[in-house]
Amino acid sequence: MVPKKDYFDEKAAKWDSQIKDEVVLRLKNMIEELALSQGSKVLDLGTGTGVLIPMLVGAVGVSGLVVAMDFAPRMLAEARKKYHWSNLEFLEGEAENIPLPDQVIDEVVCNSAFPHFDNLWQAAKEMSRVLKSGGRVAVFHPHSREYVNELHAFLGGAVKNCMIPEEDVMRDIFSEAGFEKISIENTLQSYLLTGRKA
Ligand SMILES: C[S@@+](CC[C@H](N)C(=O)[O-])C[C@H]1O[C@@H](n2cnc3c(N)ncnc32)[C@H](O)[C@@H]1O
Repeated sequence: MVPKKDYFDEKAAKWDSQIKDEVVLRLKNMIEELALSQGSKVLDLGTGTGVLIPMLVGAVGVSGLVVAMDFAPRMLAEARKKYHWSNLEFLEGEAENIPLPDQVIDEVVCNSAFPHFDNLWQAAKEMSRVLKSGGRVAVFHPHSREYVNELHAFLGGAVKNCMIPEEDVMRDIFSEAGFEKISIENTLQSYLLTGRKA
């Protein structure tokens, strides 16, 4: 089977052409709902080709910072080609071993990437480690949990086992990682988990 990193790298050049306008709109609404503060430092974990980057950069403003991170160099290269802002940095690395110091980030956002991480428990712990106390994690998808899981099963190959766990398991993953006030909303058009680092 193709390793997951290669799977995403092979798709990088055509990734943007497959993102529908409707999905971008849903993501804009989700980012607006998060009401990120101007000046905050946001980690976009699994940024891919950076669909969230313009939304995040606008939300945090020039006094903030967006760190766009992915483990697939060709996905990151597509994002780098498009976006050049002073409040944007790119970072290549694995979610299970985020190459950032402890407690430097105010918000971790993770769109359509969490179920792809090989070790969900370790990835959640890393999100918690890099967040400041009181910082927020938002794991989301512009589709329901059921849709995402069925899509991955249908696509097969490297992503066939990339499933969003059931609500009780997600709660365990994030509470064990040190998050509280965990909320999970699963609707027909979106999935959103948020939590605050204790
Ligand atoms: C389905 S794509 C979503 C990309 C982007 N967030 C979007 O919505 O277009 C999942 C992304 O997660 C990245 N990814 C998967 N596993 C990863 C890991 N362990 N560490 C970092 N990035 C990872 C992939 O390279 C890919 O870019």
